[in-house]
Amino acid sequence: MPTSVDAAMADDRPAKQAVRRGMWLDALKRRASTRSGEVPLYVTLAGAEGRDIDMMVDEGLIELTETGAIASKSLRTVIAIESNSDARSQLLEKFYGLEVLPDRFESLIRGDSQIRYPTGRDIEVWRSAVINLDLNQPLVIEQRGDDSVACGLIENVVKIATIQRSTPQEGGWSLLLTLHGALLVRDAEERTKVSRALAHILEVNFAASSAFAERFVGLTGAQPDADWLEGICTIRGTDDDPATEAHRQLTLLMLVPKLIVDRTAGMGWAISVTESAHYGGQGDAPMVTWSIDFSPTSSAGTSGRIASALSSVGNSVSLIEVDGTKVAV
Ligand SMILES: C[S@@+](CC[C@H](N)C(=O)[O-])C[C@H]1O[C@@H](n2cnc3c(N)ncnc32)[C@H](O)[C@@H]1O
Repeated sequence: MPTSVDAAMADDRPAKQAVRRGMWLDALKRRASTRSGEVPLYVTLAGAEGRDIDMMVDEGLIELTETGAIASKSLRTVIAIESNSDARSQLLEKFYGLEVLPDRFESLIRGDSQIRYPTGRDIEVWRSAVINLDLNQPLVIEQRGDDSVACGLIENVVKIATIQRSTPQEGGWSLLLTLHGALLVRDAEERTKVSRALAHILEVNFAASSAFAERFVGLTGAQPDADWLEGICTIRGTDDDPATEAHRQLTLLMLVPKLIVDRTAGMGWAISVTESAHYGGQGDAPMVTWSIDFSPTSSAGTSGRIASALSSVGNSVSLIEVDGTKVAV
């Protein structure tokens, strides 16, 4: 397990700064210029240092008072969620007046069941124009039944998309998502079943979008059949094989937005992955990150929306080098 010092250093590495100053700032500036003042601009897992909030201050998206507190006109601009009490205290000391919700974001959205939804103030959080789930955790996939798989994080995103769709902002919203570049399963038996289910889902997606199929194979260098996917999944508690770290990252870069598109395009969202990147690995934590735009659309035809969203999944994929340089892949 990384210590809090490791985590703080990881959040300050040049590659992470490049994600903040590139992908995140771009989404924040775009949404700041179009959002209605009724919804918060930004909800974030800001961490103890709140480096993304620092960046917003530098860029004039948030105003501070002379004493360093959040100015009253910016109080509704940003909401932080922080489940760790030490990190929360540090964050509040740095940004006096910042709204920091002391929960796990999963609790704030009432878990991954599609039956219970937040109410009152808690629902407002998920109507923010930019939602940043900056996580150090891998994608955990579970087998449900013989042929299907489930992933709590994807279910959380589905809930956010549902809440946003119930009172859509004209321009829509953006999801910023960062994960540790690993796909975790419980045991060998689950790995076989999850790999089979994922191979089947990918086959369907390949038929829906040849652009997605070509990009997937081009990036990963493989036809993702069940055997190949078994090599991508990591069993909880075992070590990753560093030789396939980059393959895992590239597979996740294609797989995660695809899982989101499958579950949300039918709600009437036009979805576009505006940017995705991988960084770290070879000693540093391997990370994967996306910026995904959701715009409300009344166009009929879920299959057309899925095909168009899938074709955006492989656009603008980059590798961010150790020094923060971005290289298209
Ligand atoms: C990667 S750090 C955030 C870094 C920050 N966004 C930045 O730009 O430097 C993630 C933070 O979220 C908190 N966190 C992790 N999982 C969480 C969860 N499920 N709900 C709420 N907070 C969480 C951690 O304690 C940590 O402080």
